Amino acid sequence: MYINSKGIVELKVNLPNNSKQYISQYCNDELLTNKAIVTDEGFTEVELKDEIYEYRLAYIIPEEFELNDITINKGASKNIELNIEDKNYTYGSVNITCDNENAVEIHDFKILAKEIGEYKIYAKTDNLTKEANLKIEQSVEKIELSELTINLVKDTTVKINANVIPDNSVNKELIWKSSDENIASVDNEGNIKALNEGNCEIIVSTKEEPIVTEKLLVEVKTKAIGSISKTYPPFNTKIDGITYINGIMLVNKKYSIPQSYAPGLQNIAYSAFLDLKRDAAIAGFNIDLLSGFRSYETQNRLYNNYVATYGQAEADTFSARPGTSEHQTGLAMDVGWIDDSYGDTPSGKWLAANCYKYGFIIRYPKNKESITGYKYEPWHIRYLGTDIAKDVYDSGLCLEEYLGVK
Ligand code: DAL
Ligand code: ZN
Repeated sequence: MYINSKGIVELKVNLPNNSKQYISQYCNDELLTNKAIVTDEGFTEVELKDEIYEYRLAYIIPEEFELNDITINKGASKNIELNIEDKNYTYGSVNITCDNENAVEIHDFKILAKEIGEYKIYAKTDNLTKEANLKIEQSVEKIELSELTINLVKDTTVKINANVIPDNSVNKELIWKSSDENIASVDNEGNIKALNEGNCEIIVSTKEEPIVTEKLLVEVKTKAIGSISKTYPPFNTKIDGITYINGIMLVNKKYSIPQSYAPGLQNIAYSAFLDLKRDAAIAGFNIDLLSGFRSYETQNRLYNNYVATYGQAEADTFSARPGTSEHQTGLAMDVGWIDDSYGDTPSGKWLAANCYKYGFIIRYPKNKESITGYKYEPWHIRYLGTDIAKDVYDSGLCLEEYLGVK
């Protein structure tokens, strides 16, 4: 041991190339630090803090160790366990190599898998060489989800499909997590349950290294609004006997609602109507609300009166049977003037051209009688929310066509 003019202790030791050894700092036989140092030339320097410290060097080669076969995913890393009994051995006295140096990176006893294939690895000391098989397998590189954003109606469940890429990946097991279990939960099959209004993320990751993740944004709305993402592929859900197609409440001759469903005129629709009425007045039209929410019982009376007057076949062309009227949803209204000619009046034209801006559609358009089941009703508007209403308006389709339930 030498002390140079800077007060640095110079240690000259004889080590194999690229090996490591510990330098231990002792004071009165008590170990203070135990630091691994690397040396190519068997030379290093250590700052001398106090002359009473003593420096000891150790270089111990293990006499026996094991090297087991390794199977690992491409992109993952793993510690190589040599099961060396003599824990005092010098870290760098065992050298790990691979027969293909492009396939892996090896640092100390950690191996990083880079290329798929089957190789040999070696663990060598001055006295001993062990050989084992190394298999690097295709790992999942990407997760593709069937949706990246969804809007769900509260209390509905939807399954999201996850596809791992590439196809021949091994260890495809995925873990699903929700960022907020109060808003939406998810199971390990990708079934997402909408629990409460709000936003959260569903995160899906590979179980095995290398960890690959993908995210899905979820927005949960209450069922009253009846409008959800137009990007989501149609799914049919029945909640409390009411059908939602793509999250939109659908009531027609085929899809009825229970007799007990009686929400009254829904606030969201009524306040949208008041906006519409105000702007219509500015444009010079008085558009009154003529009929809003109708209970099952009211519809029953109305329909039976029409049947008595016109006969059932004709009544069915313009009046819904009880349990199948949109008026029972509280989202539909008759406005303006209940007359076939209303659509040709300036007021009716203004309504048809503008109601989507307030979240409404003309629910029973001209020339769609065979699909909606009803004659043209230029006065009957249905609230869908502005996004969906605009989309339906732009499409030129009636609601059944738009939802794909003709
Ligand atoms: N007039 C519409 C179809 C109804 O009775 O609900
Ligand atoms: Zn109506």
